[in-house]
Amino acid sequence: MSLLSWGSLFETKITEIDNQHKRLVDLLNQVHDAVRNNKGEEIMNKALSDLVNYTKSHFATEERLMSQHGYPDYNNHKKEHEALGEKVQEFQQRYAKSSKDPLLVQELSIFLKGWLTNHIVGSDKKYAPFLKGKGVQ
Ligand SMILES: [Fe+2]
Ligand SMILES: [Fe+2]
Repeated sequence: MSLLSWGSLFETKITEIDNQHKRLVDLLNQVHDAVRNNKGEEIMNKALSDLVNYTKSHFATEERLMSQHGYPDYNNHKKEHEALGEKVQEFQQRYAKSSKDPLLVQELSIFLKGWLTNHIVGSDKKYAPFLKGKGVQ
């Protein structure tokens, strides 16, 4: 079973963003699956780095769109992204020190499930009507 399922609750109705969010959910589920099914360190680390890298490029897409169109709450939104980046960095340090304990990856994936849900529903969905009003589809 997946850790997180895509649902209409997450929809921003901006195609590029919805596609990226779907991919994020997918990558998060792959991390969860690698840990739960004991797929081994190599597969787990690959899934983890794919998720971290994709998250960075997704944040860059959102920040570009928000700044291009003058979204008024840009700074706060960017701060939320940065705060997550710091959390993930902290995790990566703990993970390295723990000799790559899969339980930490489990903990991170559960944290990310909550973070992503709250951030998409609570913050990303706030910029959506604004960007749509500027003609972003
Ligand atoms: Fe997002
Ligand atoms: Fe965001």
